Amino acid sequence: MSRRKTFVLATHNIHKQSEMSSILSNLEVRLIGLDQFPEIKDIEETGTTLVENALIKARTVYRLTGLPSLSDDTGLEVDALNGAPGVYSARYAGENPTFEENVNKMLGALSGTPYNKRTARFRTVVSFVDGKTELIEEGVIEGIITESIQGNDGFGYDPIFKPENENRTFAEMSKIEKSFISHRGRALEKMKKTLNLYFKKGVFID
Ligand code: IMP
Repeated sequence: MSRRKTFVLATHNIHKQSEMSSILSNLEVRLIGLDQFPEIKDIEETGTTLVENALIKARTVYRLTGLPSLSDDTGLEVDALNGAPGVYSARYAGENPTFEENVNKMLGALSGTPYNKRTARFRTVVSFVDGKTELIEEGVIEGIITESIQGNDGFGYDPIFKPENENRTFAEMSKIEKSFISHRGRALEKMKKTLNLYFKKGVFID
């Protein structure tokens, strides 16, 4: 049995919110963002893995809203930096850095690194928490870190990440194009299937 349910997207990042809403648009749910809950401030990501952080965010939002919550946590793993910044990607250039500061630090750290050694991947863990179950899915996209900024769209490290088999960065793609191949798109596509199975079991009550 499937009824229209309300889910909260557990993020204050409007770019992520918009990407997630667009990818989940054909799931039979009403999605609302944390902007509907101004009392919920930034949730501290105290975990040491993407799974831990994704669960911290979804559990916190479920506890505070009483509504099923979906969260994501993403890391950029750069091979020449032994997988850094990974789970610490948001804080790569210090406490509360801008996207630009993180990007500039990354370009500096890879300065002089040849093209074939600039391999990297985005990894996203998506979690769903509704008080009865906790679901986890992961999505990965391989690519390379470019030598300079390319493109104006997207957010975060998008202007310096060129996915495999592409000659444009994520920041040179539309939101739809990015979501077809992105880490977040892949994780959410898997989560959509898992949630549809969960709904079919009929245990979901909103
Ligand atoms: P978090 O999932 O918000 O913790 O993301 C960690 C860091 O990765 C932040 O600096 C984000 O801006 C960045 N990030 C997350 N998702 C993406 C993406 O799709 N493209 C580029 N950067 C991203």
